Amino acid sequence: MKIAMVGTGYVGLVTGTCLANMGHEVTCVDIDEEKVRMLKKGKAPIYEPGLEELMKRNVFEERLTFTTSLAEAVKATDVIFIAVGTPPTEEGEADLSAVFSVAKEIAKSADEHKVVVNKSTVPVGTAQKVKKIIKENIKEGIDFDVVSNPEFLKEGMAIQDFQVPDRIVIGVDNGRAQKMMDDIYKDVARPNRPIMFTDVKSAELIKYASNAMLATRISFMNQLSCLCDKVGADIKEVAKGMGLDSRIGSRFLQAGIGFGGSCFPKDVSALSSTLEKHGCSADLIDSVSSINERQKLIAVRKLESLLEIKDKTIAVWGLSFKPRTDDIRESPAIEIVKNLLEKGANVKAFDPVAMKNAKKELKKITYCKKPMEAVEGADALIVATEWDEFRNPDFEKLKSLMKRPIIVDGRNIYKPKSMQEIGFEYIGIGR
Ligand code: UDX
Ligand code: UDX
Repeated sequence: MKIAMVGTGYVGLVTGTCLANMGHEVTCVDIDEEKVRMLKKGKAPIYEPGLEELMKRNVFEERLTFTTSLAEAVKATDVIFIAVGTPPTEEGEADLSAVFSVAKEIAKSADEHKVVVNKSTVPVGTAQKVKKIIKENIKEGIDFDVVSNPEFLKEGMAIQDFQVPDRIVIGVDNGRAQKMMDDIYKDVARPNRPIMFTDVKSAELIKYASNAMLATRISFMNQLSCLCDKVGADIKEVAKGMGLDSRIGSRFLQAGIGFGGSCFPKDVSALSSTLEKHGCSADLIDSVSSINERQKLIAVRKLESLLEIKDKTIAVWGLSFKPRTDDIRESPAIEIVKNLLEKGANVKAFDPVAMKNAKKELKKITYCKKPMEAVEGADALIVATEWDEFRNPDFEKLKSLMKRPIIVDGRNIYKPKSMQEIGFEYIGIGR
């Protein structure tokens, strides 16, 4: 199938590359000329394990190309995916301006039947609006379909999540579009990992509902972690016991400093706006966000119970919103650093890959080349992102380098007992 992928961000670039790897001919389009220049040189503008190698191979085998010309790409393909960003507006709604401008462009360039696929995360009812925009701008007599195909890619695991998805959700309203989408995805699906065809509105809502459910689990555990702190229970043990119930499952039950990223925070607030816009109450969804906002600074609050932060040197391990990504969007670690600076601390930070992005936002901190460099002379260490390389440091060396052996374990990666035996003043989240 000849496919255009509009938007080469975390979603578009991974999806386009993986579709090419399935044997489809994929043209990735982006307005950002610098980005397209990099892509043509085989350089990925984002950090996603395995992506660059997959890009190179598919460019070499001439299944994957990059361009800034949307019109050309539309003419040369049958199915056009819209994967541009849908960031939150001030009011917390999804900003669909990029989606709509791309839809208009596609309509203007279409010279024969096209299937337009909303890959970007868009509120329920958006496909209808996209359909209207295309109808108003497409040449007389040219037919088209609009399809919803939400993504379920976790950053850092995006290629695996594409190649081995739990399910592929596709919202269609006619057989022709369904057949074309089936041709695209039929080789990804497996009997226990099906393509779920459904109506467009349900497909749009499944994305928000899934992300909001996952975020709800996290806020639930974060709220419970406060009780664990007070009564001396261990939230990780509680999570383990809960997760053994097959109706609950063990994933996404980890308490910590809250969820970040370009999806959960904005999708939860967008769902809340959609509920309210349609006259439904959003109190449960709203509490997921408010709990998360409070949770982000719990590490600083816990630290303050041990020392006066002003003029102290605080080391921070991890700046990305989660491991295996360079993405710092809505990262709790960034909020923590900003809060420490506001309180007059000197901050020394290390992150294996996200420092390049962090430097654009955080200027007044010391960026270190190694984790141990960050802790030298530090009055405390906050572990904000659970990168694997932080899990087993040389604890004796760590302790000897620090002015005071305080560790705030924002992602509960260490064992409280063994840390105390080594002589650390260990603070976990609900431990
Ligand atoms: C994706 C999904 O698109 C979004 O709906 C979801 O909520 C988060 O993940 P993401 O890939 O992270 O968004 O977006 P981003 O990393 O911002 O990349 C979007 C790309 O689209 C950018 O490279 C931007 O240059 C490009 N773009 C934007 C266009 O090509 N055309 C436009 O009109 C606007
Ligand atoms: C998420 C969804 O998982 C994915 O399906 C959707 O397509 C995009 O959004 P992503 O945001 O990339 O993926 O990362 P994810 O692994 O879901 O983690 C999101 C945030 O939740 C991170 O900040 C992570 O630290 C946090 N988290 C995750 C927890 O705090 N506890 C957990 O148990 C799991």
